[in-house]
Amino acid sequence: MNTPRYEYSRSTIEKTINLLLSLSSPYGLQVRYAIKANPHPEIITMMDDRGIYFDASSSYEAEELLNQGILGNKISLSSQQSPHNLEVLLGRGVLFTATSMNQLKLFLNCAHHPNTLSVRINPAFGAGHNNRTSTGGTSASFGIWHEYIDEVLALAKTEQVTINRLDIHIGSGTDPALWGEVMERSLSVVEKLPDVTVLDIGGGYKVHRYGDEKEADMVEITTTFSKQLQLFFEKTGRKISLEIEPGTYLIAHAGTLVASVDDIVDTGSGEYTFLRLNTGMNDFLRATLYGARHSIEVMNRSSATKEYVVVGHNCESGDILSPGNGNPEEIETRTLKEAEIGDEVRIYDTGAYCASMRAKGYNSFPDAIEVMVD
Ligand SMILES: Cc1ncc(COP(=O)(O)O)c(C=O)c1O
Repeated sequence: MNTPRYEYSRSTIEKTINLLLSLSSPYGLQVRYAIKANPHPEIITMMDDRGIYFDASSSYEAEELLNQGILGNKISLSSQQSPHNLEVLLGRGVLFTATSMNQLKLFLNCAHHPNTLSVRINPAFGAGHNNRTSTGGTSASFGIWHEYIDEVLALAKTEQVTINRLDIHIGSGTDPALWGEVMERSLSVVEKLPDVTVLDIGGGYKVHRYGDEKEADMVEITTTFSKQLQLFFEKTGRKISLEIEPGTYLIAHAGTLVASVDDIVDTGSGEYTFLRLNTGMNDFLRATLYGARHSIEVMNRSSATKEYVVVGHNCESGDILSPGNGNPEEIETRTLKEAEIGDEVRIYDTGAYCASMRAKGYNSFPDAIEVMVD
């Protein structure tokens, strides 16, 4: 089969869906799939068939979901950019989350808005795999700063709108040990929003891709959440139902980018040997953007190994597929099977934010195809 291609494993996706659907929370738990991670239509259908709802990050993503036949009431829209078609989306039943005061005003100005609204609040606390994936705290533009909650409530009241849902997403790749604190901070925001009955605590559940990275234990995390929600009920009498909206966790492990060795070059004895693939940042940007590390395997029968820097085919010195940990400006060598031109190479755990987030069209390379496999 042609390379480069993304392969998405149905059985891996099924396994993850089953795990997430087995979780619970005392006053209800809804799982939403953050489709920006990978909006492949078959993946969306698999999620929809199993009762998973959706999180859209732009009005265009929401439109795509509707065009694919997903019911509006299963879609939550929380977008950095103001929706271009808010009136239409609200008419189709899409749940809108205002992520700024301006978006709150846009909602209130819609002729036929519902009388309830969701808001995204920045709780002054962020975390992520690194600074580029943190979406909370003073250096993040995501959500309404928590100190403006009184203004939010006052503005909503002018139109008899009730804020009944809170959306918080502090970042992606969050250290699993921090989730208790995230819930604590989120509940302190819920306390300030008296009509909130649903807390969407976002995505960000970490997966292990390489080295000593930790994988989030979703059972442990939701057990912690459940205890905290129970205590919150005992303290306030308020039963808060929970939503989580993972992208990465649902789909990262299911994807493999299959490429070929296009060339092998070196910089003299004792320096680097570069394995140049027929893919790169135009298909797979995470390494260049974040210094994200993925396992890479050369698929041949060689028993010899060699140290390689793995690079992409784009005319760009930053097109490094084996970057330093969290540092795209550094290169890292990998011990791989000794390779020859033409060998197949597999880059693992590339289901999330890979095909959907690439330097598309760069050097006019065609996109890697995407196929579903069993
Ligand atoms: C609001 C919101 N929810 C969910 C997600 C999904 O995050 P992850 O893929 O890390 O689970 C994101 C990612 O940026 C987000 O911004």
